[in-house]
Amino acid sequence: MQNFVLQNPTTIIFGTDTVPGIGRETAALGRKVLLVYGQGSIRKNGIYDQVVSSLLGAGLDIVEHGGVQPNPLLSHVRAGIARARENGIEAVVAVGGGSVIDSAKAIAAGAMADHDVWQFFKGKKSIKRVLPITCVLTLAAAGSEMNGGMVITNEQTSHKFGTGSRLLNPRVSILDPTLTYTVPANYTAYGAVDAVAHILEFYFTTRDPATPVQDRFMEGLVINIMESCEKVLQQPRDYQGRADLMWSATLALNGWTAAGLGMVGFPMHMIEHSLSALYNIAHGAGLSVIMPAWMRYQAGLHPAKFSQFGQRVFGLTGSPAQCTREGIELLRSWFVRVNSPVTLAELGIEAEDNPLIADNALALAKIWRLKNYDKEIIMQILQGCR
Ligand code: NZQ
Ligand code: ZN
Repeated sequence: MQNFVLQNPTTIIFGTDTVPGIGRETAALGRKVLLVYGQGSIRKNGIYDQVVSSLLGAGLDIVEHGGVQPNPLLSHVRAGIARARENGIEAVVAVGGGSVIDSAKAIAAGAMADHDVWQFFKGKKSIKRVLPITCVLTLAAAGSEMNGGMVITNEQTSHKFGTGSRLLNPRVSILDPTLTYTVPANYTAYGAVDAVAHILEFYFTTRDPATPVQDRFMEGLVINIMESCEKVLQQPRDYQGRADLMWSATLALNGWTAAGLGMVGFPMHMIEHSLSALYNIAHGAGLSVIMPAWMRYQAGLHPAKFSQFGQRVFGLTGSPAQCTREGIELLRSWFVRVNSPVTLAELGIEAEDNPLIADNALALAKIWRLKNYDKEIIMQILQGCR
């Protein structure tokens, strides 16, 4: 167990009929609010009307900034920063999934900076002041609703970089599982894959050989995510399944799994962000391609944790080498079962692009100080995704 300090400033309001509270919660932070949302799902499923009537009911002034796309763009963030400044915005309300919440965070940080917001993502500036954020989550995946992270794509340089600060944790996030009933099967699966990846990034990269508390917490989360994902793919309006999946995805990246692990890395995300930046691949779809190949690479370096993973998550009982190998294969076949891609070819990405992807990923590896990844290693992992 390593030393750690754990503080999570986000208040979570979880359950049915919680959306009407967004007006009251936001009014405590400001009167003029920027409402950030995606490309229209919330208008179709009625969440927009619920949120707007609650904000107006609390006497708030709303300025809208819709149109956030999956793999959110820096240009759209910059436009949001300008809109926030022009309108004297005092708080930012995000209604959507990870792309919307991350855009809201980038706007909240950029509006209070005296430099371009991308400086934060290049690691050149640290976040000192932000506009307060509240959030209504509509998709179980990224965990952005209860962390300080944000991931934005610079479409000019084709870089998708992530950064963050505890200042960017939403003050309040409303998690009503019924809002995810309308999430299509593909994004339900991609969200589950993303949450599994968040867990396994830490599970397999901690250098501490003895973390039984964290291991069983993470193993249990992976099992719950897989079970609840399969349940809601069968029954999209299964409340228990949607609630379990939503809360597991939040727990996967709110700091609780990593507490006590010491130094951990995010190498699968380092590579996946390049797929999203270069080919506009859905984040979870990119991860289900990268994960098995990266796991085989990492198992070659640290096999013990992989045999434990196979035994505890999939109940395997063979030799450690068998449990290592079969555990990875069983996870890969789970991705196939939920229709998340497992090869670069399925994503329409040609083998000759590997050097381009590796060079792109290396830029993020440098910012994230993932020193043990060079072009050759990334190329080797990409080769395993064919
Ligand atoms: O744009 P709309 O019309 O709202 O449609 C969205 C979008 O097309 C749709 N959707 C969302 N809620 C829905 C819904 N459709 C029907 N009913 C609903 N209730 O789903 C699509 C995907 O939305 P998006 O927000 O892109 O998905 P997700 O939540 O998986 O977020 C992915 C983003 O999160 C970032 C990723 O990089 C990616 O950009 N991440 C953020 C992290 C963080 N802040 O800590 C960590 C993660 O690793 C991840 O990198
Ligand atoms: Zn992710």
